[in-house]
Amino acid sequence: MVEIMKDVQRIAIVDPNDATREPLRNLLLGVETVWLEAECSRYEFFIDVARQSCPDAVVITLDSDQNKAHQLIQQLAVEFPNMPILAVSSRGDGQSILQALRAGAKEFLTTPVVLEELLLALQRLRANHRGSSDTNNTQNGATRSESLVISIVGSKGGVGCTSIAVNLGCAMAQDAKYNVALVDLDLALGDADIALDLIPDYTLADVAMNVDRLDMQFLRRSLCKHDSGLSLLPHPVQMEDIALIHDEHLGRVIGLLRASYSHLLFDLSKRFTPTDLTAMRMSDVVVLVAQLELTSLRNVVRMMHTLEKEEGLGDKIKIVMNCAGTDNGDITLEKAQETIGKPIFWQVPNDAKAMLGARNAGLPLMTHAPKSKAHTSLVGLANVLCGKVAADAPKKERRSFFSFR
Ligand SMILES: Nc1ncnc2c1ncn2[C@@H]1O[C@H](COP(=O)(O)OP(=O)(O)O)[C@@H](O)[C@H]1O
Ligand SMILES: [Mg+2]
Repeated sequence: MVEIMKDVQRIAIVDPNDATREPLRNLLLGVETVWLEAECSRYEFFIDVARQSCPDAVVITLDSDQNKAHQLIQQLAVEFPNMPILAVSSRGDGQSILQALRAGAKEFLTTPVVLEELLLALQRLRANHRGSSDTNNTQNGATRSESLVISIVGSKGGVGCTSIAVNLGCAMAQDAKYNVALVDLDLALGDADIALDLIPDYTLADVAMNVDRLDMQFLRRSLCKHDSGLSLLPHPVQMEDIALIHDEHLGRVIGLLRASYSHLLFDLSKRFTPTDLTAMRMSDVVVLVAQLELTSLRNVVRMMHTLEKEEGLGDKIKIVMNCAGTDNGDITLEKAQETIGKPIFWQVPNDAKAMLGARNAGLPLMTHAPKSKAHTSLVGLANVLCGKVAADAPKKERRSFFSFR
């Protein structure tokens, strides 16, 4: 998965016909060096998919509408001159091949696509792509707009994950350039929907059940939009449906979401399940929420110990101390930092009035308590995570939330 992502070819495919797209997708999913970045069932939408996901190569099946497919290839070739395009068609006559290549395709395969041929074509695309990007020093001729993926995970129950996830999401969604989605991965007991007072039409279970014919449009429609601009994909309503959500589903869903949204937030469970781990592996940042309290701190140490065993995972962790500034414990921030062996990245002040009030009202802090300390702190955290402010800039402000003893 993510550990091998560096050598992986990230591929996006478009084919309006399920009957040919599915075998092709399954073939691609079986190739270890391929990461299926996005899948699309409409030629018209694919240019957007490509813009957002900036794949290393694209596969275009021509048969549903040769003209539209050729137009798309031309458009891609103009916009992303270095993006390798593989055309696939049942018509392998010279004329068809020539047309596709003239439009801008680099490789051509006939259906049914055979694994060996696919592997060879991908290899050639990769070799050519390397060559061209070495000389130009650009990727696909475009600046890559990666989405920022953030997991929010707790060190014990009730530590504040959902509060932080929901309010970070709403804060980020205020930027008109961002497209932000929150996925509730606390599959059994999640309550992001309640925190936002949303009654969803679809949940992660519907998406998982339809994972085989999932495309961007379907996925986008499955998310529920909050007034703040934040989109939510809630956990399943029925407990039984949790079993429908497999890890490989989640991988695909996240891949597609990354093509649609600029910022993705995952509210994880406290059980360290395979789903949680998959989400953390696919994240750029893992916000580990803690409190200045023995159980929480011990679990932070244990979790970091486990996560650090996996290459690249430990480095993503940012410790966020929630409910900072309470006077009822005898663990100081310095002592906590010493125990954890890592600096505290951010503090969210203890602010029961705002936090509890907002939760009970089913509103985010930005509407319920926009002047509260908690809101200010979480907007600050959102800005830092989004790279709008340097991480060490608001130190003074952070200190004021906490008195050293
Ligand atoms: N900074 C805070 N100050 C005061 N109360 C908080 C704070 N953060 C969260 N809470 C409260 O703690 C409770 C648990 O928070 P929640 O976000 O549901 O935790 P989790 O998702 O980790 O189980 C909620 O009632 C919430 O309002
Ligand atoms: Mg929660």
